[in-house]
Amino acid sequence: MRITMVGTGYVGLVTGTCFSNIGNEVTCLDVDPAKIEKLNNGISPIYEPGLDELIDRNHKAGRLHFTTDKTQAYTNAEMIFICVGTPSDEMGHADLKYVLAAASDIGKAIENAPGATGGELEERRGKIIVVKSTVPVGTNEKVRQAIAAETNKPFYMASNPEFLKEGAAINDFNKPDRVVVGVNDEGTGGRMRKLYEPFVRNGHPIFVMDVPSAEMVKYAANAMLATKISFINEIANLCEAYGSNVDEVWRGMTSDARIGNKFLYPGLGYGGSCFPKDTLACVSMGIESETPTPLLKAVHDVNQQQRLNFYDKIVEFFGGEENLSGKKIAMWGLAFKPGTDDVREAPALTIANKLVDAGATVEAHDPVAHETTQIVLGDSIGYHDDLYATLGSADALVICTDWPEFKQPDFGKMRSLMGSPIVFDGRNLYNPQLLQDEGFTYFSVGRTPVNAEEANVAK
Ligand code: UDX
Repeated sequence: MRITMVGTGYVGLVTGTCFSNIGNEVTCLDVDPAKIEKLNNGISPIYEPGLDELIDRNHKAGRLHFTTDKTQAYTNAEMIFICVGTPSDEMGHADLKYVLAAASDIGKAIENAPGATGGELEERRGKIIVVKSTVPVGTNEKVRQAIAAETNKPFYMASNPEFLKEGAAINDFNKPDRVVVGVNDEGTGGRMRKLYEPFVRNGHPIFVMDVPSAEMVKYAANAMLATKISFINEIANLCEAYGSNVDEVWRGMTSDARIGNKFLYPGLGYGGSCFPKDTLACVSMGIESETPTPLLKAVHDVNQQQRLNFYDKIVEFFGGEENLSGKKIAMWGLAFKPGTDDVREAPALTIANKLVDAGATVEAHDPVAHETTQIVLGDSIGYHDDLYATLGSADALVICTDWPEFKQPDFGKMRSLMGSPIVFDGRNLYNPQLLQDEGFTYFSVGRTPVNAEEANVAK
């Protein structure tokens, strides 16, 4: 099939590349010429394991093209996937200007295209315009109207939410748990099924449903996952207050199959481009439709508070924010999660900012997220390629991302480098008993701190 992806962000680029990888003719369109030039030179603008190689292979094979030429990209395509950004304001209201601008350009291209000559019957019937960006329920219809305002020629609409996770995007796309497609007519449902069938040879389902339901699935799924994280973080906070150990509580509760054991790890709360935005968007849809969503508002508030609670733990240990002035704090992990250089809504950045504002020096290491952090924080913190290089004379180490390479460090080396062997672990990477035996003062989430009193006396 001839497919055009509009927007070469995370979803557009991964989806387009994976479609081309199974033999489709894919054109990725972006308004940013620098991005397109990079892609044409085989360089991915985002960090995603395996993506560079896949782009290079399919680009060289002549199946994957990158362009800024809208007319050509829209005119040739049988299917056009809208994957542009939908930035949200603080209230979670999604800004649809990029989606609607693409729709209107697509409408013009359909109107001005020469009459269909030959080709598959279904191709001559009209293009399918697929909305893949996560957009408020009802947007598909707005896109249809924006296209219809430019042309009377036939075209078809579909909604196709994407569930891939950053850091595991290619595998998630190639072997999805499910594919969800919303359509207004059976023919379009059939054409979408045909496109996705090679990806569900694992027997996983393709659900074809009405458009408003498909649009809601993505929000419901992400809001559920976000709820699980805020839930366990709230329980972890109660554990700290009552001297319970959240690891034990986790084991005890998750052995109930109805609860399950996935996505219930306490920590600094969720970040990234999806959960914070999508949870807020649900709240915003609730306000607009006068349908109260107090649960999801609380999920968001708990998440915002969780990183601040962790910062407060550091402040409390040092006896007040004023005492952070002049302290040297090492930070391991900047990305919102391992496997990505994405720092959008990353707890590490909030905590680093607060430490710097309080007058501390922050020396950070992340395996891949220095450049992306520098765009946001500039040189207000130090960046080190080696994780131990952050530790020289440090008054404490703060761990913000659960990168695997942090899980079994050389504790002896850490102790000898640090000014004080104090660790604030926002991701519960270590067994508290082990850190106690290694002579560290250790704070984590939902578990009693170790050696805290001794360290306080020594201060
Ligand atoms: C998420 C969804 O998983 C994906 O289906 C959707 O398409 C986009 O949003 P992603 O943002 O890539 O994907 O990250 P994910 O791996 O889901 O993690 C989100 C955040 O939750 C991270 O900050 C992670 O640290 C945090 N998290 C996850 C927890 O704090 N505890 C957990 O138990 C799981």
